[in-house]
Amino acid sequence: MTSAASPASLIELHGSPLYVYDLALVRARAQQVRAAISWQPFQPLYAIKANPCPAVAAAIVGEGYGIDAVSPGEVALALRLGVRPDLVLYTENNMTDAEQALAIAQGVLINCGSLDRLERLARSGAKQACVRFNPEFGDGAHEKICTAGPLTKFGVHQSLLGEVRRIERETGIQVVGCHMHIGSGFLDATAFSKSCEVIFAIAAQLPHLQFVDVGGGIGIPYREGQAAFDLATMGATLSASFAAFCHRYGRALELRVEPGRFLVAEAGTLYTTVTSVKSNPDGRVFVGCDTGFNHLVRVAMYDAYHRISNLTRPHAPSQVVDVVGNICESGDVFARQRALPTAQPGDQLALHDTGAYGMAMASTYNTRPLPAEIVIDGPTVRVARRRQTVDELLAQYVW
Ligand SMILES: Cc1ncc(COP(=O)(O)O)c(C=O)c1O
Repeated sequence: MTSAASPASLIELHGSPLYVYDLALVRARAQQVRAAISWQPFQPLYAIKANPCPAVAAAIVGEGYGIDAVSPGEVALALRLGVRPDLVLYTENNMTDAEQALAIAQGVLINCGSLDRLERLARSGAKQACVRFNPEFGDGAHEKICTAGPLTKFGVHQSLLGEVRRIERETGIQVVGCHMHIGSGFLDATAFSKSCEVIFAIAAQLPHLQFVDVGGGIGIPYREGQAAFDLATMGATLSASFAAFCHRYGRALELRVEPGRFLVAEAGTLYTTVTSVKSNPDGRVFVGCDTGFNHLVRVAMYDAYHRISNLTRPHAPSQVVDVVGNICESGDVFARQRALPTAQPGDQLALHDTGAYGMAMASTYNTRPLPAEIVIDGPTVRVARRRQTVDELLAQYVW
């Protein structure tokens, strides 16, 4: 543990590339969501897929969050963090029967994404389930992170509510949770509010409910000058419409939300070092660095935008460049034709807002080890995950 938290000192001490997370900001975002929603009972869950680093997740759990898990690994992580099983919701998609049996043994509620899973859960003797519905339209910053509507694999189509009711009647299982998650990274709540009304109409016909979970998806302003999501208005609208729904339903149900990105994206930075600056005869300049889409795939996968700063020479004259990584793929690009301070080899760059779906989606492609993760918590700085070594990576093979 050390108290030296300047990026340069962190890189000197822990190497490059390096993910760094600011836990104070994570906690502030977690509190902001709680403050925005006045309806009680309210139970936020953290969509731990966004950033499973235990130190980050523990900070959110410390704010009274449960966990939205999507795999046996995420359930295990949640339980190891000390989260009560009843505060873990396992949102399955295409789970195996063995995974189902394990979740039941762990005492975790399964959020069924298909009728056949609900039926198999019921036939296994489970008494309760949550059902994820697809409210027919989705939202999100990119089609690959739109998780509702006709093109997605997720959820039970809203028109199949009658089948859900039939399974309840025939098997005795009780649907205690009604869930949706329409997509990720939206900055406008229009589609979200519309789909909440769809989900409340569905929920009205499920007699055994204990909670309604309206999912995550709140975006953050990745681009300079972009307006932040209006959380206060969304919270007030959601609280009021849920109160009206509960009045119609005849009982006060628990409201759940499950943000991921909003809680952790802005708290994370990927630091990298410039390894080469190449000027081609056509005038195109490539600033190459010591990380790549193996450590941050969002740009290559979702055409995402991340602000980039040159920490070493922030005031150098501006130059339009492509910022690229060290992976042997043409798509290994962090920014195209971006005006940045003229860079030189050895400069340290910050890729901002990379706390969500950054390290969480990292791979060892090109047999490049994973970077270290550091957390800053007020005056203290600690290693949350050691840098992987090539030896560790190779040791996984059976030689
Ligand atoms: C079921 C579910 N809930 C919540 C989330 C969190 O989404 P976000 O990080 O956009 O808030 C996701 C992300 O894809 C998800 O699949």
